[in-house]
Amino acid sequence: MPRNRQDAGAASEWRREAARAGEWREERGAADGAQTRVTVAPGTFYVETFGCQMNVHDSEKVAGVLLGRGYQQVERPETARLVFYNTCSIREKAAQKVFSRLGGHREALNSGQIIGVLGCVAQQEGEEIFERAPWVSLVCGSASYRKLPELLAELERGGRRVTGLDTDTDETFETEMTRRDNPFRAYLTIIEGCDKACAYCVVPFTRGPERSRTSASILEEVRRLADAGYTEVQLLGQTVNSYRDPSSRRMSFAELLVAVSEVRGIRRVRFTTSHPRDFGRDIVEAIEAVPALCEHVHLPVQSGSTRVLRAMQRTYTREEYLEKIAMLRGARRAISVTSDVIVGFPGETEAEFEETLSLLDEAQYDGMFSFTYSPRPNTPALSMGDQIPEAEKGRRLAVLMEKQRGIQTARNERLVGKTLEVLVDGASRRKGQWAGRTSGNRVVNFTSERERLLGEYMQVRITRGGPNSLVGELVS
Ligand code: 5AD
Ligand code: SF4
Repeated sequence: MPRNRQDAGAASEWRREAARAGEWREERGAADGAQTRVTVAPGTFYVETFGCQMNVHDSEKVAGVLLGRGYQQVERPETARLVFYNTCSIREKAAQKVFSRLGGHREALNSGQIIGVLGCVAQQEGEEIFERAPWVSLVCGSASYRKLPELLAELERGGRRVTGLDTDTDETFETEMTRRDNPFRAYLTIIEGCDKACAYCVVPFTRGPERSRTSASILEEVRRLADAGYTEVQLLGQTVNSYRDPSSRRMSFAELLVAVSEVRGIRRVRFTTSHPRDFGRDIVEAIEAVPALCEHVHLPVQSGSTRVLRAMQRTYTREEYLEKIAMLRGARRAISVTSDVIVGFPGETEAEFEETLSLLDEAQYDGMFSFTYSPRPNTPALSMGDQIPEAEKGRRLAVLMEKQRGIQTARNERLVGKTLEVLVDGASRRKGQWAGRTSGNRVVNFTSERERLLGEYMQVRITRGGPNSLVGELVS
């Protein structure tokens, strides 16, 4: 067994050679038991996505590039010619998942399958991936997707290993064709990368610096989406509200929101994720003025303690953050506010954790994603002293979630009796069960004997509020 990286490298070199010569199967067969040969279907691809909406949308773009080259998408990896994993490295568990997936493809070199690793793990681990999984042929980070067609062409010409790992590009990844998976909501990247450098976060390393698309190119894509029948679009960016129009039009983010809402056929516009530092009154005023702008803002706080926020390099204090919340709560529309919170950041004391709990009382979030701090490579927080034990992080997370559950239930119960418009985007197997989303991004379940409601906007009277969703009935 190889014991160190050098040995592993030598062994994998041998395996590669052996595989090329068609010998590896026999070797492995003798040691591991007979392998069954996979017959790949030529011209097919499979892509599996981990992580955030940006990744989901990147996969849609990758699928678009492949479809444009004549490939067909398949639902299972076993017989696909190209198998791509679009990976996430925001937390350690997410990053580990990809290696367990790759473990299932040891036979790729024999069967003629091409295995590709895309996304944040690809960017972070780079060519190390070839060491850990020598049967991988393509490693392409999220900042280099514009190179993907080139890399594919190289593979098609018989290239064995291709990589796209630059992060110094100032271009964004735009494709002629994007194959969208969600038939009701079209995702649209308006800004890539991140310049914020939060002390715990790998994104600035994996996605590179901030690059905004021109407002003209965004509006053109929205018009095409509307023509294709989409009524809801969601503008994406790690820090979406840090958008800066690089063209001479110099549209502000708030102006862009309004312009997108004015595209004929568009009924709902969402955007995520907003950074508190760049969140100004003009965005709230745009939401107040334009009904098509959804009444929902995702504004991650991360911690309720100014000391911890400073250590995290979040660039705002608890008080400054709460002023933004007050601005949102004071708006003429009932804007839902959701957040992300990290517990157990290095050095977080019990009292500082309690400040996060008390911030929940004040902010009254309509939804929240919460995480235990996960040490990530290259980040400043990795080498900070006073790392919190996993068990303690887990305890804090449970306490936090329990508190938020109570807040959410109470907020949802307050909606009982109100009539809300939902875009129907789900049907349960049990006939007559439907689900939709409100402008505030709440899930509403309702029953109706009517048919073909998917994609329709319906008025629903709320009859019950639970911690995570609402129940209602159609207003005829
Ligand atoms: N550990 C835990 N959570 C993290 N997030 C980002 N980096 C980390 C990390 N190292 C969370 C933040 C961010 C969300 C997308 O993921 O809350 O807003
Ligand atoms: Fe990561 Fe902070 Fe950038 Fe968000 S703003 S992607 S948490 S560095």
